[in-house]
Amino acid sequence: MRTDLVIRPERPEDAEAVRELVRAAFAGTEYSDGRPESALVDALRADGDVLPALTFVAELDGRVVGSVVCSRATMGEGTSVGLGPLAVDPGYQAQGIGSALVASVVATAEQRAEPSIVLLGDPGYYGAFGFETAAPLGIGSPGPWEDRFFQVLTLRAWRPELAGPFRYAPAFEALEG
Ligand SMILES: CC(C)(COP(=O)(O)OP(=O)(O)OC[C@H]1O[C@@H](n2cnc3c(N)ncnc32)[C@H](O)[C@@H]1OP(=O)(O)O)[C@@H](O)C(=O)NCCC(=O)NCCS
Repeated sequence: MRTDLVIRPERPEDAEAVRELVRAAFAGTEYSDGRPESALVDALRADGDVLPALTFVAELDGRVVGSVVCSRATMGEGTSVGLGPLAVDPGYQAQGIGSALVASVVATAEQRAEPSIVLLGDPGYYGAFGFETAAPLGIGSPGPWEDRFFQVLTLRAWRPELAGPFRYAPAFEALEG
């Protein structure tokens, strides 16, 4: 990882840079032009569902080059954390920035005694952080994706009886359609 990288909680004045970053990062994927993910972040903010303590930016020389947004989600009768979007500026990918952002979320979620973090993503990427397929743990997927994309990281506060249907914050419903 780069030694000049700063990971810090997102501040209100980062919102515009994060919007552009999310759009640019997802525009480089085969399944999106970046607009749905960018709109998702805006909608999560508008709804007040972003978790500020678990939402970070990565900065290099004062410039935002990475972002992870976490939002409040529910699982069964309890709560969970929804991780995503995670985005790194296309010019700065594959330098450990995404990993540093995920590691910050995981460490902070542990400190805050969150029981679980859930996401939709590439198992090849998130498996390295300990995420596993959620369905075998009894965690119900909120959408029609293949099970292997719907992943959970159980933390120290996890207990098997917390498993149940998972629901993202409402803003995700636009993506799920
Ligand atoms: C996915 C993304 C956030 C990763 O961030 P990054 O800073 O480029 O990733 P890192 O440098 O931390 O990568 C860590 C490791 O994962 C690997 N990796 C990166 N992207 C990967 C992918 N899509 N699938 C599998 N492995 C991947 C890297 O090769 C690296 O492996 P290494 O440590 O053995 O060298 C970034 O590439 C991105 O913004 N992509 C477009 C948006 C996106 O797809 N977001 C995630 C949606 S689930």
